[in-house]
Amino acid sequence: MLLEAPVYKELLGAVEIFEVQKVIKLDSETKDVGSFTVTNVPREDIYRILEDIAIVVPMKNEKLQLIDGVLKAIPHQCPIIIVSNSKREGPNLFKQEVDLIKHFYNLTRSRIVVVHQKDPGLAKAFEEVGYTEILDQKGNVRSGKGEGMIVGILLSKVIGAKYVGFVDADNYIPGSVNEYVKDYAAGFLMSESEYAMVRLSWRHKPKVTTKGLYFRKWGRVSEITNRYMNALFGVATNFETSIISTGNAGEHAMTLKLAEIMPFSTGYSIEPFELVYLFETFGRWGKDSHSEVYDEGIEVFQIETLNPHLHEDKGQEHVRDMILSSLGTIYHSEIATESLKNRILKELRLHGLLKEGEEPPKPKVMPPIEGVDVKKWMSILEDEAETLLRFEV
Ligand code: GDP
Ligand code: CO
Repeated sequence: MLLEAPVYKELLGAVEIFEVQKVIKLDSETKDVGSFTVTNVPREDIYRILEDIAIVVPMKNEKLQLIDGVLKAIPHQCPIIIVSNSKREGPNLFKQEVDLIKHFYNLTRSRIVVVHQKDPGLAKAFEEVGYTEILDQKGNVRSGKGEGMIVGILLSKVIGAKYVGFVDADNYIPGSVNEYVKDYAAGFLMSESEYAMVRLSWRHKPKVTTKGLYFRKWGRVSEITNRYMNALFGVATNFETSIISTGNAGEHAMTLKLAEIMPFSTGYSIEPFELVYLFETFGRWGKDSHSEVYDEGIEVFQIETLNPHLHEDKGQEHVRDMILSSLGTIYHSEIATESLKNRILKELRLHGLLKEGEEPPKPKVMPPIEGVDVKKWMSILEDEAETLLRFEV
């Protein structure tokens, strides 16, 4: 793969954010390109590390045709981890997903792990290892994309993956999913730190209009989140910036070493919260006990995909939720100044998302999983879960 070279970056303490790098050629071999402004990540290298990248696919009531395309597009070497929170009665969508996955496995012999988020055995496993922050008052695993992702990260650790990448199940273009995973691999191959994250941004996000497809550059939510994420970075460094373009990047990946030491927030605030947390914690020296992370540095790559991103339209209510919870993570950050907070309140009121005197929601935070005894967690899951399925080659 040829990418724009990672020339420009912004630093905040130990956090290094690279400017967006566009994919220039999807597929290339080991040959020197002879240009300093272009980085070549040869296909051979990408294929070498794919088996170490576990791909987590969180899903909740998505169309089976889309799930099928996504599974078929994930490069064959990558282990797949499916965490579903789909309905199990009237109709039983989860059962339909399992049938589809079994069929897919029979055809391909891919490595797959599946579990349902509401499996009582999963809740029990969390309870017994003391990770109760993921449970609701009734003792079930809470609903939410973030919660599903944490289950996925734990399973990635269990199967010994070095990296974990996330791919949404509602993607209409299988070829783009195939690219995302290779973009993750390219990011890891460019990184020099064991604590690295790759976040994707879109070349275009097509929308259907009366005149046909319109290739929009930015979704509304991303544009707003990025504006305030950049402002937060700016107040922390005293230098305004526009470097962040992946505040809401649902499609992203990180080294397991990084995933283990980060707390995650719930639902859809999980992706912006990752950045806010990194700024707060590793933006200043010595705030966290992992001193090796300050030495190595945390690298955040932002890659602009060649493929467009076309996913299911979840409607206005979902967009409002995303904006509120994304700006909530920035608003409640300890770095945010009064003036930044006021700007966020104004923005939210302008969109009719907040009334006078109200504040955006504060993210609920779940602690890092490094404290979880994964062996014990997995053995309880294997004994107790009704929905755990493991397909191995
Ligand atoms: P957007 O693309 O970020 O606007 O949000 P989506 O609604 O498409 O959600 C992203 C992915 O998370 C999709 O694959 C959803 O099916 C999945 N998802 C949403 N809620 C949950 C949940 O509660 N649990 C799990 N496991 N996945 C979820
Ligand atoms: Co989506």
